Amino acid sequence: MDPFAAVPDGARHDALAELARTGPLHHLVLPTSVPAWVITGYAEARAALADPRLVKGGPDNAPFVAELEPETSAGLNHHMLTADPPTHTRLRRLVSMAFTRRQVERLTPKIETLTASLLDDVAKELAETGEADLLASYAYPVPMTVICDLLGIPPEARTDVRTWVAPLLKGGVDTFDAYATAARRMLAFTRDLVEEKRRTPADDLLTALIEARDGEDRLTEDELTSMVQLLFVAGTDTTVSLVSNGALALLTHPDQLAYVRADPARWPAAVEELLRFDSPAQVPIPVTTAEPVEIAGTTVPAETVVIVSLLAANRDPARFTKPDELDLSRADGAHLAFGHGIHHCVGAPLARLEGRIALQALTERFPDLVLAREPGSLEREPSLLFNKLRALPVRLR
Ligand code: HEM
Repeated sequence: MDPFAAVPDGARHDALAELARTGPLHHLVLPTSVPAWVITGYAEARAALADPRLVKGGPDNAPFVAELEPETSAGLNHHMLTADPPTHTRLRRLVSMAFTRRQVERLTPKIETLTASLLDDVAKELAETGEADLLASYAYPVPMTVICDLLGIPPEARTDVRTWVAPLLKGGVDTFDAYATAARRMLAFTRDLVEEKRRTPADDLLTALIEARDGEDRLTEDELTSMVQLLFVAGTDTTVSLVSNGALALLTHPDQLAYVRADPARWPAAVEELLRFDSPAQVPIPVTTAEPVEIAGTTVPAETVVIVSLLAANRDPARFTKPDELDLSRADGAHLAFGHGIHHCVGAPLARLEGRIALQALTERFPDLVLAREPGSLEREPSLLFNKLRALPVRLR
C-alpha cells in the first residue's frame, strides 16, 4: 500500500506501521517518481530534522520550477521553508519580527466569532439536509478566513483567492496548467496587495512584513510575495486536517471526548495528542544529503532525497507507549507534528489556538454529533505532504 495514495481511512497508518516494523529507514519511490529514503523511526526522524547535512536546496525545491517562467517562480518560492542557512536564518528573523505572539493572541476573539458563525451554518445544514460535511463547512473555512484576516485580504477578493490557492496546495500532483494558471493569478493579486498596503498601511501582518527591518535588511519584493504564498500553503490544509482529523478522532473515541469535555483546561493537552495521533502533515519538505550521511546504520549517499514520515515517527512504539491508542491524558508527548530543528513550524501557536477553539466550540455546540458514515468508508486525499480527509460527513444522533 502506497502511504501517499488515496486510501481508506486508517489504511495509511497501517501501511506505515507495516513499513516501520521492518526498521526505521526505507527506500521508496515517491508519487512524484523520485526515489527517496524514508525515515519512520522517531529518534532517527528527530536527528535528521536537526542535521545540517540534510539540506532543503533553496527556491528550486518547489513544484514545476523547470516548466514555470523564472519570474513567477521567483515570486512564489523565495521563502524560508525551502531555504538553508544563512538565507533561512535571515528570512526567519525578519518574519518573526512581524509574525509575533501578540499578532496571534489578539486573533482569539475573531476566531471565536468566526467558529460560532460557521457552526450556525453547520446547524442550518444539519436541519435542512440531516447531514453536514464538517471538512468543507467548518474545518476548511476556519484557517482560510484566519489567514485572509491576518494578511488583510479584503472580503470581496477571498473567493478568488480560495480558487487560486487550491491547485497550489496540491503542488506537484496537480497538472502543470492548473498549477501555473493559479500561481500566476495568485502572484499578480499578491503584488497588487503589497502595493496597496504600501500606499495605505494597515494593522495587519502583511503591513508588518513590509515594514519589518533588521538594521538595513528587509524582505525583498519576491520574498514578500513568496511569504504570502507560504502562509497559505503551510497554514491552510495543515490546520484543516488538525480540525477534521481531530474531530474524527473525538467522534470515534466517545470516552476521550467525555474526558476532555469534563474539564476545559484539558483542551491544550488534548490538541497535542490529536496532533500526534493523526498528524496533519505527512512529511516536511523533502531534503537532500549534502554529503554521505549515516542513518540507522545505513550510509545514505550524497545527493540523495530523504523524507521523514511524521505520521510514522509520531506512532513509533520505541518512543510512545501504546502509540495507536488515543489517550488525551498522555504524559509522554513531544510529537513531531510541527517538525523539529530550524524549520519548526512558525505558525504552531496559531495552529494550536485555531485547533483548540474550533474543536472546543464544535463539541460544546453539538454534544450529540456522530459520524454519518462508517469510519472505514472515509477516504484520505492522495498527497505527499498532507494527511487530509476528503470529507467528514456528520449528523445528529
Ligand atoms: C496543525 C497545523 C500545522 C501543522 C501540522 C504544521 C506543520 C509544519 C511543519 C511540519 C513544518 C516544518 C516543515 C519542514 O521542515 O519542511 C512547518 C513549517 C512552517 N509552518 Fe506550519 N504547520 C501548521 C500550521 C501552520 C500555520 C497556521 C502557519 C501560518 C499561518 C504555518 C506556517 C509555517 C511556516 C511559515 C513554516 C516554515 C518554517 C521554516 O521553514 O522555518 N504553519 N509547519
